[in-house]
Amino acid sequence: MKKVCIVGASGKLGQYMVQHALDRGYEVVGVCRERSVGKLDRFKGRITIFPGATNDRQVIRKAVEGCDGVLTVLVPWGVQQYSSGTAQAVLDHARQDARLIFSCGWHITRDGQDVYSRTFKTLIAAFGWLARLLRFAELDDQVEACRRIFASKSRWTVVRGSDLEEGESQGLPVWSRHVGDRVLASNLTRRVDFALFMVEALEDDELIHEAPAIVGCRTPSALAIKMGR
Ligand SMILES: NC(=O)c1ccc[n+]([C@@H]2O[C@H](COP(=O)([O-])OP(=O)(O)OC[C@H]3O[C@@H](n4cnc5c(N)ncnc54)[C@H](OP(=O)(O)O)[C@@H]3O)[C@@H](O)[C@H]2O)c1
Repeated sequence: MKKVCIVGASGKLGQYMVQHALDRGYEVVGVCRERSVGKLDRFKGRITIFPGATNDRQVIRKAVEGCDGVLTVLVPWGVQQYSSGTAQAVLDHARQDARLIFSCGWHITRDGQDVYSRTFKTLIAAFGWLARLLRFAELDDQVEACRRIFASKSRWTVVRGSDLEEGESQGLPVWSRHVGDRVLASNLTRRVDFALFMVEALEDDELIHEAPAIVGCRTPSALAIKMGR
């Protein structure tokens, strides 16, 4: 892995991924909205920025050129198919052999085998309803984005994040194929470690065509499994 593109580099997750990628000595290219370029000032001179909407196909085409890996933050914001447009642009323009890593939340299911708590289902339904009503986000479009990724022949991984918190790194999160697995019960990951998992996935071929649901490695549920409890 020599050169990586981070799509959505200016967000919280994106900035952590930029740092992890630079720490590994990768050449880093970032895509973010024009108005957010200033959020990347601390990386000035160390990364190349392509300003633009992440679903702008021409911006993505130029940004991913020659990249061995692409890390994409999928967000449901807005009502212009932002998520699916972003995913499609990356799928269409990245090199065929590039490693493609996408972020989303536990609510995305690949095979319908995830088991969600009643609270989680209620929260997602309420958020989706409010988002549709106020037209600030399209959860369904993030589902559509992932449907297209799962159907693609590219070398993809979809990393599904739990609830997130800030704080120092605790190490690489643990993961499971399905929400509902006991190891994930704590439902909490540090954002810096979500980013770490995304960047480490670039070099982990065992994660190709997987949709790992992650949780912090020092959470009670992860520690309990490690101790054999
Ligand atoms: N927040 C959570 O608790 C949570 C839980 C599970 C999974 N996740 C997943 O984690 C990833 C990032 O989450 P995060 O909470 O850490 O957020 P984040 O890193 O702050 O990312 C937000 C991204 O959305 C962009 N954005 C914000 N408003 C926008 C708009 N109106 N139109 C277009 N783009 C907009 C931001 O770009 P600008 O910098 O240009 O504003 C930024 O790239 C996502 O894939 C999300 O599904 C989050």
